[in-house]
Amino acid sequence: MALLFHATGWPREEWLEELAQQAPWLDVRTAEDLGDPRDITHALVWKPPADLLAGLPSLRLIISAGAGVDHLLSLPGLPDVPVSRVVDPDLTRRMGEYVAQQALMHLRRQREYDACQKRREWCSGIVPPTAPEVTCGIMGLGALGAEAARLLRLLGFRVTGWARTRRYIEGMRCFAGAGELEEFLAGTDILVCLLPLTPETEGILNIDLFRRLRHDGALGGPILINAGRGRLQKDADILAALEEGTLKAASLDVFETEPLPEESPLWDHPAVTVTPHVAAVSSPRAVVAYALRQIARMERGEAPENLVERARGY
Ligand code: NDP
Ligand code: OXD
Repeated sequence: MALLFHATGWPREEWLEELAQQAPWLDVRTAEDLGDPRDITHALVWKPPADLLAGLPSLRLIISAGAGVDHLLSLPGLPDVPVSRVVDPDLTRRMGEYVAQQALMHLRRQREYDACQKRREWCSGIVPPTAPEVTCGIMGLGALGAEAARLLRLLGFRVTGWARTRRYIEGMRCFAGAGELEEFLAGTDILVCLLPLTPETEGILNIDLFRRLRHDGALGGPILINAGRGRLQKDADILAALEEGTLKAASLDVFETEPLPEESPLWDHPAVTVTPHVAAVSSPRAVVAYALRQIARMERGEAPENLVERARGY
């Protein structure tokens, strides 16, 4: 039994150290030190190169080191073995914190006060509304969306949600499927997107959708928070919507092209808050522990947790 570890763009030594510390008994290989490919039974990966997982005849399980699996499902020739994606309290907490922070920042009109401060202007005429006057609509009610909803409700926001299938979450109205999207959008002041990227969701955050949000709410216009995936959104449509007043502001953690190109107008748009895809970073400690639990489950003959359904794309 050997585990192949590969994470494009993440600090490799930190991950290898964590694996060595938590599982000194485990034979860990990397792309550079693969040895006999027949030894590899498990893979813990993030954005692996297209051919890395092909040609591993003993592979039994792929574990995505991140919550999203578009980086795997888009690979041509992905081996036909189970894929488990990380669902972990540390990652979930981080996303909840990001969403709560952004929602509060918009509620409290912080960007407007920041601009006033730059001008040394005492803008006491700008008065924020309170959370119960504002509805946050969450697209995607999975592990991350449900936690974001919980925190936003604790802060006093009205919260609704939208998912592919009917969800029942205490204290909030949940809309389901394309047929209920219209009603969901029409009542939303702050749109929080925590959808996975699939053929169905790609490009869903476009100007036509922004026009269907509530425009007469307490924030003076709808706000977009996207921490799902960059290709859910059309960057150009966000800019156009901001220009025509269809959106009042946006907090974006993800972009169509990452890193966000230096020339993108999103960088210095006064109504856009940019973070570099860090809303919920995978912690090596938590994710290695998660991966080891899945390997142990398989060894005991149990199914790994959080298996991806390839046909639905997440
Ligand atoms: P889950 O799989 O637990 O939840 C996905 C949710 O999206 C489900 O509620 C699902 O509906 C809904 N959904 C999927 N397809 C559709 C559709 N076509 N129409 C409506 N709803 C749909 O995922 P997580 O909550 O764990 O993660 C969500 C995403 O967050 C990840 O896929 C990833 O892209 C992103 N992410 C971003 C991070 C960052 O740092 N920016 C960090 C971690 C994750 P249903 O409930 O019916 O299945
Ligand atoms: C993830 C991410 O999917 O970090 O976990 O984007």
